[in-house]
Amino acid sequence: MARRVRAHLGQERRYAHSVRVARCADVLAQRHGSSRVKARTAGLLHDLARLYTKTQLLAECEARRLPIAAFERARPVLLHAKLGASLARELFGVHDGDVLSAIEKHTTAAAEMSPLDCIVYLADSLEPARQFMQRTALWELAMHDLTRAMREVLDVTMRHYAGKGLAPAPTTLQAAVAFGVERLSVTPLEVSASS
Ligand SMILES: [Fe+2]
Ligand SMILES: [Fe+2]
Repeated sequence: MARRVRAHLGQERRYAHSVRVARCADVLAQRHGSSRVKARTAGLLHDLARLYTKTQLLAECEARRLPIAAFERARPVLLHAKLGASLARELFGVHDGDVLSAIEKHTTAAAEMSPLDCIVYLADSLEPARQFMQRTALWELAMHDLTRAMREVLDVTMRHYAGKGLAPAPTTLQAAVAFGVERLSVTPLEVSASS
Protein backbone atom coordinates (compact mmCIF):
# COMPACT_ATOMS: atom_id res chain seq x y z
CA MET A 1 0.00 0.00 0.00
CA ALA A 2 2.82 2.42 0.87
CA ARG A 3 4.36 2.01 -2.58
CA ARG A 4 1.05 2.79 -4.27
CA VAL A 5 0.48 5.81 -2.03
CA ARG A 6 3.93 7.10 -2.97
CA ALA A 7 3.15 6.67 -6.67
CA HIS A 8 -0.27 8.30 -6.35
CA LEU A 9 1.04 11.30 -4.43
CA GLY A 10 4.00 11.77 -6.75
CA GLN A 11 5.85 13.91 -4.24
CA GLU A 12 8.38 12.68 -1.66
CA ARG A 13 7.58 15.41 0.85
CA ARG A 14 3.87 14.57 0.97
CA TYR A 15 4.62 10.86 1.04
CA ALA A 16 7.04 11.28 3.98
CA HIS A 17 4.36 13.30 5.81
CA SER A 18 1.82 10.52 5.17
CA VAL A 19 4.19 7.90 6.55
CA ARG A 20 4.85 10.01 9.66
CA VAL A 21 1.11 10.49 10.21
CA ALA A 22 0.58 6.73 9.84
CA ARG A 23 3.30 6.05 12.42
CA CYS A 24 2.01 8.64 14.87
CA ALA A 25 -1.55 7.35 14.46
CA ASP A 26 -0.28 3.83 15.11
CA VAL A 27 1.43 4.93 18.35
CA LEU A 28 -1.67 6.80 19.55
CA ALA A 29 -3.93 3.85 18.66
CA GLN A 30 -1.71 1.46 20.57
CA ARG A 31 -1.71 3.79 23.54
CA HIS A 32 -5.49 4.28 23.56
CA GLY A 33 -6.62 0.76 22.65
CA SER A 34 -7.85 1.57 19.13
CA SER A 35 -7.19 -0.50 16.04
CA ARG A 36 -3.60 0.03 14.95
CA VAL A 37 -4.31 -1.28 11.47
CA LYS A 38 -7.17 1.19 10.95
CA ALA A 39 -5.09 4.05 12.36
CA ARG A 40 -2.11 3.24 10.11
CA THR A 41 -4.32 2.84 7.05
CA ALA A 42 -6.14 6.13 7.61
CA GLY A 43 -2.85 7.89 8.33
CA LEU A 44 -1.18 6.63 5.18
CA LEU A 45 -4.18 7.44 2.95
CA HIS A 46 -5.40 10.68 4.54
CA ASP A 47 -3.78 13.08 2.05
CA LEU A 48 -4.35 11.23 -1.24
CA ALA A 49 -6.00 14.33 -2.75
CA ARG A 50 -3.89 16.97 -0.97
CA LEU A 51 -1.85 17.87 -4.06
CA TYR A 52 -4.83 18.22 -6.39
CA THR A 53 -5.41 21.72 -7.73
CA LYS A 54 -8.51 23.71 -6.75
CA THR A 55 -9.99 23.00 -10.16
CA GLN A 56 -9.29 19.27 -9.85
CA LEU A 57 -10.73 19.12 -6.35
CA LEU A 58 -13.97 20.76 -7.42
CA ALA A 59 -14.22 18.72 -10.65
CA GLU A 60 -13.47 15.37 -8.96
CA CYS A 61 -15.97 16.05 -6.17
CA GLU A 62 -18.62 17.10 -8.66
CA ALA A 63 -17.96 14.01 -10.81
CA ARG A 64 -18.64 11.86 -7.74
CA ARG A 65 -21.65 13.95 -6.72
CA LEU A 66 -20.04 14.68 -3.36
CA PRO A 67 -21.83 17.56 -1.63
CA ILE A 68 -19.86 20.82 -1.75
CA ALA A 69 -20.76 23.40 0.89
CA ALA A 70 -20.37 27.13 0.32
CA PHE A 71 -17.33 27.29 2.59
CA GLU A 72 -15.72 24.44 0.66
CA ARG A 73 -16.33 26.20 -2.64
CA ALA A 74 -14.67 29.28 -1.14
CA ARG A 75 -11.68 27.21 0.04
CA PRO A 76 -11.48 24.09 -2.18
CA VAL A 77 -8.36 22.75 -0.43
CA LEU A 78 -10.71 21.61 2.35
CA LEU A 79 -12.26 19.16 -0.15
CA HIS A 80 -9.10 17.04 -0.18
CA ALA A 81 -10.36 15.27 2.95
CA LYS A 82 -13.68 14.02 1.59
CA LEU A 83 -12.23 13.36 -1.85
CA GLY A 84 -9.38 11.50 -0.15
CA ALA A 85 -11.91 9.21 1.52
CA SER A 86 -13.48 8.49 -1.88
CA LEU A 87 -10.08 7.76 -3.42
CA ALA A 88 -9.20 5.45 -0.52
CA ARG A 89 -12.32 3.46 -1.36
CA GLU A 90 -11.93 3.53 -5.14
CA LEU A 91 -8.18 3.09 -5.53
CA PHE A 92 -7.24 1.20 -2.37
CA GLY A 93 -10.39 -0.84 -1.75
CA VAL A 94 -10.95 0.60 1.73
CA HIS A 95 -14.55 0.07 2.79
CA ASP A 96 -14.13 0.35 6.53
CA GLY A 97 -16.39 3.19 7.68
CA ASP A 98 -14.14 4.02 10.63
CA VAL A 99 -11.12 4.53 8.37
CA LEU A 100 -13.08 6.54 5.81
CA SER A 101 -14.56 8.75 8.55
CA ALA A 102 -11.11 9.47 9.98
CA ILE A 103 -9.83 10.49 6.54
CA GLU A 104 -12.88 12.67 5.91
CA LYS A 105 -12.56 14.50 9.23
CA HIS A 106 -8.78 14.96 9.28
CA THR A 107 -8.76 18.54 7.98
CA THR A 108 -11.59 20.46 9.62
CA ALA A 109 -12.44 18.08 12.49
CA ALA A 110 -16.15 17.76 13.33
CA ALA A 111 -18.60 18.11 16.20
CA GLU A 112 -18.77 14.34 16.59
CA MET A 113 -15.55 12.39 16.38
CA SER A 114 -14.74 8.80 17.26
CA PRO A 115 -11.47 7.97 19.05
CA LEU A 116 -10.02 6.91 15.66
CA ASP A 117 -11.12 10.22 14.09
CA CYS A 118 -9.32 12.06 16.92
CA ILE A 119 -6.22 9.88 16.60
CA VAL A 120 -5.79 10.63 12.90
CA TYR A 121 -6.60 14.34 13.33
CA LEU A 122 -4.05 14.62 16.15
CA ALA A 123 -1.42 12.56 14.30
CA ASP A 124 -1.78 14.89 11.30
CA SER A 125 -1.57 18.00 13.48
CA LEU A 126 1.25 16.83 15.72
CA GLU A 127 3.57 14.70 13.55
CA PRO A 128 7.24 15.56 14.20
CA ALA A 129 7.73 17.80 11.16
CA ARG A 130 4.99 20.20 12.30
CA GLN A 131 6.66 23.32 13.59
CA PHE A 132 4.82 25.18 16.28
CA MET A 133 5.83 25.89 19.82
CA GLN A 134 3.38 23.67 21.66
CA ARG A 135 3.81 20.60 19.43
CA THR A 136 5.81 18.41 21.84
CA ALA A 137 3.62 19.23 24.84
CA LEU A 138 0.47 18.58 22.83
CA TRP A 139 1.84 15.26 21.60
CA GLU A 140 2.48 14.23 25.21
CA LEU A 141 -1.07 15.29 26.06
CA ALA A 142 -2.44 13.28 23.11
CA MET A 143 -0.65 10.22 24.46
CA HIS A 144 -2.59 10.59 27.72
CA ASP A 145 -5.94 12.13 26.84
CA LEU A 146 -7.36 12.35 23.31
CA THR A 147 -10.27 14.63 24.22
CA ARG A 148 -8.14 17.18 26.05
CA ALA A 149 -5.60 17.09 23.24
CA MET A 150 -8.37 17.76 20.72
CA ARG A 151 -9.52 20.75 22.77
CA GLU A 152 -5.99 22.17 22.97
CA VAL A 153 -5.16 21.58 19.30
CA LEU A 154 -8.47 23.12 18.23
CA ASP A 155 -7.73 26.07 20.52
CA VAL A 156 -4.34 26.56 18.84
CA THR A 157 -6.04 26.23 15.44
CA MET A 158 -8.69 28.83 16.26
CA ARG A 159 -6.06 31.27 17.52
CA HIS A 160 -3.98 30.63 14.40
CA TYR A 161 -7.00 31.54 12.24
CA ALA A 162 -7.78 34.61 14.34
CA GLY A 163 -4.15 35.76 14.17
CA LYS A 164 -4.17 35.55 10.38
CA GLY A 165 -7.56 37.22 10.08
CA LEU A 166 -8.92 34.02 8.55
CA ALA A 167 -12.28 32.47 9.34
CA PRO A 168 -12.36 28.81 10.35
CA ALA A 169 -14.59 26.33 8.52
CA PRO A 170 -18.00 26.02 10.22
CA THR A 171 -17.20 22.37 10.97
CA THR A 172 -14.03 23.43 12.79
CA LEU A 173 -16.00 25.96 14.80
CA GLN A 174 -18.55 23.25 15.67
CA ALA A 175 -15.72 20.94 16.70
CA ALA A 176 -14.20 23.66 18.86
CA VAL A 177 -17.53 24.18 20.63
CA ALA A 178 -18.09 20.43 21.02
CA PHE A 179 -14.64 19.90 22.52
CA GLY A 180 -15.05 22.84 24.89
CA VAL A 181 -12.67 25.42 23.43
CA GLU A 182 -13.16 28.81 25.07
CA ARG A 183 -12.39 32.24 23.57
CA LEU A 184 -14.34 31.70 20.35
CA SER A 185 -14.12 35.26 19.04
CA VAL A 186 -14.22 34.22 15.39
CA THR A 187 -16.55 34.47 12.44
CA PRO A 188 -17.24 31.25 10.55
CA LEU A 189 -16.13 31.14 6.91
CA GLU A 190 -19.70 30.94 5.54
CA VAL A 191 -20.39 34.43 6.82
CA SER A 192 -17.22 35.97 5.43
CA ALA A 193 -16.78 33.84 2.30
CA SER A 194 -17.58 36.74 -0.01
CA SER A 195 -15.08 39.08 1.61
FE1 LIG B 1 -4.73 16.86 4.74
FE1 LIG C 1 -1.82 15.67 6.27
